[in-house]
Amino acid sequence: MSSADEPWWRRAVVYQVYPRSFADSDGDGIGDIPGITSRLDHLAALGVDAVWLSPVYVSPHVDNGYDIADYQAIDPVFGTLEDLDALIAAMHERGMRLVMDLVVNHTSDEHPWFVASRDPANPKRSWYFWRPGRPDPDGGPGATLPPNNWSSVFLGSAWEQDAGGSYYLHSFAAKQPDLNWGEPAVREAIYSMMRWWLDRGVDGFRMDVINLISKPEGLPDAPGGPTAGNQLEMVVGDPGLHTYLAEMRREVFDRYPDRTFLTVGEMLAVTPEQAVLVTDPERRELDMVFQFEHVDVDHGQLGKYDPQPLDLRDLKASLARWQVALAERGWNSLYFNNHDQPRAISRWGDTSQYWRESATLLAGVLHMHRGTPFVYQGEEIGMTNYPFARIEEYRDIEAARAYEVATALGLPSELILGTMAKMSRDNARTPMQWDGEAHAGFTTGQPWLPVHLNHLWLNVADQVEDADSVLSFYKRLIALRKSEDVLTTGTFTLLEPDHKQLWAFLRADERDRLLVLANFSDDELGIPDGDAFTGLDGGRLLLGNYPDGGAPGPLRPWEFRAVYL
Ligand code: GLC
Repeated sequence: MSSADEPWWRRAVVYQVYPRSFADSDGDGIGDIPGITSRLDHLAALGVDAVWLSPVYVSPHVDNGYDIADYQAIDPVFGTLEDLDALIAAMHERGMRLVMDLVVNHTSDEHPWFVASRDPANPKRSWYFWRPGRPDPDGGPGATLPPNNWSSVFLGSAWEQDAGGSYYLHSFAAKQPDLNWGEPAVREAIYSMMRWWLDRGVDGFRMDVINLISKPEGLPDAPGGPTAGNQLEMVVGDPGLHTYLAEMRREVFDRYPDRTFLTVGEMLAVTPEQAVLVTDPERRELDMVFQFEHVDVDHGQLGKYDPQPLDLRDLKASLARWQVALAERGWNSLYFNNHDQPRAISRWGDTSQYWRESATLLAGVLHMHRGTPFVYQGEEIGMTNYPFARIEEYRDIEAARAYEVATALGLPSELILGTMAKMSRDNARTPMQWDGEAHAGFTTGQPWLPVHLNHLWLNVADQVEDADSVLSFYKRLIALRKSEDVLTTGTFTLLEPDHKQLWAFLRADERDRLLVLANFSDDELGIPDGDAFTGLDGGRLLLGNYPDGGAPGPLRPWEFRAVYL
């Protein structure tokens, strides 16, 4: 593909805004759209090309807006449609694009579609998965069990019983009923809603758990016990997904032949093979997917709330596997952070002695891969996990559910809370740290989630003028996406895959060979001998994360270097 007909997102860096926590303009303690607009200069200075905005639609907020009650209206807590139009205009003026969150695997149970569907006689009944229960042999007369053994991703049965006795399917919380994509009227309603947003000037969609939309015929039981999220085994990989995505492409995006959108599908448990199918441009489905393999490498047998120390070899191998699998056809998204992950620097870096170095190292390594990098708010200044200590400090429904389930299993509360502090999604959701003043400049009111005390020294204002700050490093890194062709087009080769501290790889095209080196440890690390590393000493440093650049010799603690050989 020549760079002339290359879609813009191949050389783009996208920034994710989690609106509740970004900037509050009206002092209610919750971020909002005018707040985002007031901070666009920060994003323009960072150099990002597009913003992915987490949901701002009307919602009861049981899952912070991922439970939508009206797809075509803005929740008053975030502002108005006019505010959103103003945000789009202000972004376009600065040459930035806006990608909205599209949450169409499920709605809120307060969405009028679902409310109507509660009535068995209503035509909208078939818009959701309503099923009779199974007779319960151990129960009393008329007692029933859920229609199958699927478990919700947020734990517990994926079925909720309604007053009438029927059950409805919810892959997440009970207040997030799954839409039935098998019903043509559902798809038509969604496509028309999407066109309505594109007509308003929106430049694409990030599609929430999109690979769950096609359910297997008859909703059969999952093999094995009802473990958390076992339905994924049955739903992920269902071939109907490809039919729906291709139809969506025709019915929505193809109607705008003069515009190039960005579409990225969040896909739980997706394999590289499925991702190739979805992102192969010739198949005309999506541009890229958010996969989870690399952010799950340190999960233990019991899943995310069973975190294990990171084995760097697993993380390197995972990213490399996806680089190779999508090298010929398809395209990768690149991320370590988002609103569902604990802060990567707290998880894999060293926040005590080498905070600056490990924040920049993680960024450098990620952005030197092939694909479209995503930066999550606060990542660009090295924001860390919050020291959560008590259950009352959490706001996330998933955290509450996990605590409930673990307590019921009889696990000691200190153990549960210790694990939650490491892995909870609320770590990513504490307010953005703009300055060292009250509430970090996020709000004049009482923030909905506590502000980290480290905002006193870890904040945007302190980093703007500092050439050696994490923020300045991100600016340089993001600019390289535009200037260095090899990052977009070069091949990828992982070096020293068995090394436990060194992450090394080579990017190459006909003209250039770029060697990337990163020391994931608190110790000095010698550069291995080997053909791949010859030429390093005389090479030209493209970017390093130590202020004196990349002096030849061993790598210092958490040092990152990218060198043209
Ligand atoms: C996605 C979202 C997450 C949400 C879930 C259900 O994984 O990123 O925040 O809880 O979908 O909508």
